[in-house]
Amino acid sequence: MPNVVVVGGQWGDEGKGKVVDLLCPAFDHVVRFNGGNNAGHTVRFADRHFALHLIPSGILQPNCRCLIGPGVVIDPIALLDEVRLIEEQAVSVRPRLLVSARAHIVLPGHRALDQARESSRGAGKLGTTGRGIGPAYEARAKRTGIRLGLARNPRRLREAVAAASGELADALARYPDAIVPTTDEIDRAVEAVLALAPLLGGVSQALAQASEKGESILFEGAQGTLLDLDHGTYPYVTSSGCLAGFAAPACGLPARAIDGVLGVFKAYATRVGSGPFPTELTDNIGEHLRRRGNEFGTTTGRPRRTGWFDAVAARAAVRWSGIEAIALTKLDVLDEVSEIRIATAYTDGGQTIEQLPDDAEDLANATPVYELMPGWQTNSSAVTAFRKLPVLAHRYVARLEELLGVPVVMISTGPRREETIVRHIKPFTTWAVRI
Ligand code: IMP
Repeated sequence: MPNVVVVGGQWGDEGKGKVVDLLCPAFDHVVRFNGGNNAGHTVRFADRHFALHLIPSGILQPNCRCLIGPGVVIDPIALLDEVRLIEEQAVSVRPRLLVSARAHIVLPGHRALDQARESSRGAGKLGTTGRGIGPAYEARAKRTGIRLGLARNPRRLREAVAAASGELADALARYPDAIVPTTDEIDRAVEAVLALAPLLGGVSQALAQASEKGESILFEGAQGTLLDLDHGTYPYVTSSGCLAGFAAPACGLPARAIDGVLGVFKAYATRVGSGPFPTELTDNIGEHLRRRGNEFGTTTGRPRRTGWFDAVAARAAVRWSGIEAIALTKLDVLDEVSEIRIATAYTDGGQTIEQLPDDAEDLANATPVYELMPGWQTNSSAVTAFRKLPVLAHRYVARLEELLGVPVVMISTGPRREETIVRHIKPFTTWAVRI
């Protein structure tokens, strides 16, 4: 069975959770490979509603085994809470979840440092989620991080956490408004790591054994390609790799373990936090998309910035991640828009730009060149067959396919699992025969 990576093609929040949840029945294992609890998505089916941040949405499909890879940074209290909340809804988690012992811990001091830095930046904020993700990855790169596997040695774990928390308190002393974590909070984090001990193990080994048995793997990416640390709109990016190619090595598997890449794109664009966003809409249409699309962060509740689909940025994402098929989400959110725009190029100082600029400032200075398309102004929400979509929606989808050179294999027409169009065309049919 082929292994497939699912990544966001924009600035995160594309609806990957719902897509992964739908694809899970076709896969034996789902592994999250990057980020931390800065990510968040809601999965809805029947009358149930789950908010997930670290655990792959595969957990909601009974036969799927879920893993969290070594490249993920884990806030132990957040993970433990998530396990409990899902279990309270009668979903079995612990027997089906394996967490890498190599994954790094996000300490309360990392969170405090993230927040203190952000508030000291004033207008120059990056707009992070404040979950301590950047400082935890910094510690990993500085080789002062603490890995979950230390749970096997409680004495050493306590010593390491105390030493790291002391260093973080020194760093926090530079920020007059910083809230230094109390000993109680630090102890709670240690207890949470110890409580997670039964879930820890070797993700690379488990996946390699699964592959030998012919079992399939779905790699679940967090954030979006344009937030990638190296290729995204630096410095307005997250602190981990978000490209599809990163999935296999991040989980200790060879690059050839990836057989296919599905990119998830919203039918328009959103961004949270700071950073260039050439197609941003600050008018009534932007507000309409935010309201109709419920564009408020699952993790922080922040209103998301909204804008038109940016085909220049999307083409870069397709190239960087090798996206071979697209899941297009929230098409129904465009239902009432009379004229839809797609950015097909930018201009800057009279020059036409066809490629995404490397520099965030150049991107901020770019003006989009728009192609205009008539909106369908008909209800498409909850449509489950492609032929039942309005003709003008077909035209919009076909134009995106043409601009990106990639087929749209799934279309989401509402937040529920059921509100989805699956197009039985390649490569989808080769990857997901069980859907
Ligand atoms: P951090 O990952 O919390 O350090 O935030 C860095 C940037 O990535 C900020 O602009 C965040 O808003 C953005 N970001 C991080 N995670 C997500 C996500 O899951 N969805 C959308 N944006 C995100």
